[in-house]
Amino acid sequence: MAILFTGIKQLLTFAGENAPRAGAAMRETGLVKNAAVLVEDGVVAAAGPRASVHRHRLARKARVIETGGVCLPGFVDSHTHAVFAEPRLRDFSMRTAGASYQQIKAAGGGIVSSIGAVRRLPQKTLAAQLAERAQRFLECGTTTIEVKSGYGLSLESELKMLRAVREAAKLTRLELLPTLLAAHSVPPEFNGDAQKYLDYVTAEILPKAAAEKLAIFADIFCEKGYFTPEQTTAYLKAAARLGLKPKVHSEQLSNYGGTRAGAAAGALSADHADHVYAEDIAAMRDAGTIAALLPASNFYLGLAKYPPAREIISEGVPVALATDFNPGTCPCWNMQFVVAAACTHCAMTPEEALCAATVNGAWALGIGDRTGCLAPGMRADLAFFDADDYRELAYYFGASQCVMTVKNGGVAWQKAPSRRAK
Ligand code: NIG
Ligand code: FE
Repeated sequence: MAILFTGIKQLLTFAGENAPRAGAAMRETGLVKNAAVLVEDGVVAAAGPRASVHRHRLARKARVIETGGVCLPGFVDSHTHAVFAEPRLRDFSMRTAGASYQQIKAAGGGIVSSIGAVRRLPQKTLAAQLAERAQRFLECGTTTIEVKSGYGLSLESELKMLRAVREAAKLTRLELLPTLLAAHSVPPEFNGDAQKYLDYVTAEILPKAAAEKLAIFADIFCEKGYFTPEQTTAYLKAAARLGLKPKVHSEQLSNYGGTRAGAAAGALSADHADHVYAEDIAAMRDAGTIAALLPASNFYLGLAKYPPAREIISEGVPVALATDFNPGTCPCWNMQFVVAAACTHCAMTPEEALCAATVNGAWALGIGDRTGCLAPGMRADLAFFDADDYRELAYYFGASQCVMTVKNGGVAWQKAPSRRAK
């Protein structure tokens, strides 16, 4: 049965070119005031001014939901590490006492400290935990997330993490797109020999993940003390030959060359981009690589430096925003906070930030042709907010304003009715 969401004060459709949005196009929200969205069979039948949507032939028999507020395409969070066993509270305490990322790693914290518990837990438990976290994402208006492995760092445990994503996808309405991130760090068994570990990943883990279709993307952490730019290009090319789409963690802690290395392998996105220079930005533009910025991690790490979004946008590289949700450097699943941080710390406009969190997030996952914007034929992935103006989503921060999330045309989460608090 068709559903008619109506009485929407402001609808941002982001309808436009069937491609990632760059430059001025990132500010084209497709704003419609007094709007409605008509949905049938999981897709958008019409989205636009209330009066014209109500005239659609399917509207007459549709179930009507009066929503009010602001409606956007559901957030597409293109970068998360949402499968993990435990929060890293020891790292957190050390950080609040002044320790840096590198000092925490040297003291036995960091990425590798997450592997023990992930290796111990059964797949079923990891899947159940992920499904519970998925609910938190839905409650904040997110309808699709990418999920990385990378806390197993062995054949068995990396595949277990990816299988847990597959299992969790059956327990939640949130769409989960898996990424193999076996090249996240060098596990202790390899005594710091990054090349030997990468050879093992390439020979053993990549082919099995590809054969079992456990991952859509392959990612690598290119940084001093992790993997070099040369290793990054070679690894991502090997992954691409097996059908996994390349992504890269690059220029997070220093300017090290990961962005150019990723672009050379045709990376769909280069993520973090905190320390990119002009040549890195040019490489992304020339390769068609999207810059996925993760400012909630900068916030959480207490960094003064944020990614240079203005430079990246003015050079014509499409920008996506994502949470980087993970137990070490960003325990935040709320894309509304990411949007707020991008506006206040990266000088992005609310229009650009919302575009980056929806349509460009979808393109950073290669699914922009079916989700991320609201036009006839697109998946009916919608988020509704208790707000009068879409800019309030970036203005009020630290709490969720989401009241309803719709995935594939079905209500995936709805807030219990309460009086408006603000
Ligand atoms: O994106 N940089 C590498 N990976 C994560 C951190 C993961 C962790 O600390 O557990 C990131 O920040
Ligand atoms: Fe990350």
